[in-house]
Amino acid sequence: MTERKHTHRTFGRTTSRLDAATLAKLATRLEVYAFEVSDLAKFDTVELEVGMGNGLALFERAKAAPETLFVGSEVYQNGLRSLVNALEQYEGATGEKLNNVRITGDDAREFMAALPDNCVDRVCLLYPDPWPKARHKVRRMFTPEFVAECDRLLKALDTAELFVATDIPDYILQVFGVVQQTGVFVPTAIRPTDWATAPKWWQPTKYEAKAARENRFPFYVPLKRVGDAAKVNHNLKTKP
Ligand SMILES: C[S@@+](CC[C@H](N)C(=O)[O-])C[C@H]1O[C@@H](n2cnc3c(N)ncnc32)[C@H](O)[C@@H]1O
Repeated sequence: MTERKHTHRTFGRTTSRLDAATLAKLATRLEVYAFEVSDLAKFDTVELEVGMGNGLALFERAKAAPETLFVGSEVYQNGLRSLVNALEQYEGATGEKLNNVRITGDDAREFMAALPDNCVDRVCLLYPDPWPKARHKVRRMFTPEFVAECDRLLKALDTAELFVATDIPDYILQVFGVVQQTGVFVPTAIRPTDWATAPKWWQPTKYEAKAARENRFPFYVPLKRVGDAAKVNHNLKTKP
């Protein structure tokens, strides 16, 4: 576990009904999928998911794109356990380890801070904790600091992207506010329907399903660096 530098938590509980023995066993099971910086050089493309929840969407994406390294970050132990269960079951059923998945239980901000510059092709922030109460909004993950860290980590390629999904309109406002304030990224949506259209690589997440059950709808927000967005979207100027 890396040293904690952030003064506020972006997450709620870290475990639910898991006893000490189960947690100890989980730590051992997670070691099989521990991330090493040297893993970055083994794959042409690298995707980092911040707050992956139960990790099952990442698991499906990893199966669909074996040439990409998927690094999942989550502090909720039960979520980490769900992903390890899925990976172990996969290995039991196929006789092969899914070798393009790595897992970290560290606070994603600490994990990101320890990564080298320009090493990630996509950062995913999918259904981040919305922290709806006004006094709790400071706990939201999508801040200018987070954006600066994503800028540092994303490769200098026009394919590099920061991808946010949320069902919370107020969170979208925060994303756009921070994007405008920081001026590094810009959304690449062209048509109004783009905001409601999942990308080709998308796999549904647990919180997306929960939102749908509760009549909330997804906003998909692909963000690229300003100059790169202009290359893929000719309606955009080079400045947001
Ligand atoms: C609302 S859930 C969404 C989970 C998943 N992305 C989904 O769509 O089902 C947000 C998750 O982010 C995790 N999280 C929040 N802050 C985090 C941090 N600093 N580091 C790692 N995970 C974090 C929480 O524990 C929680 O599981």
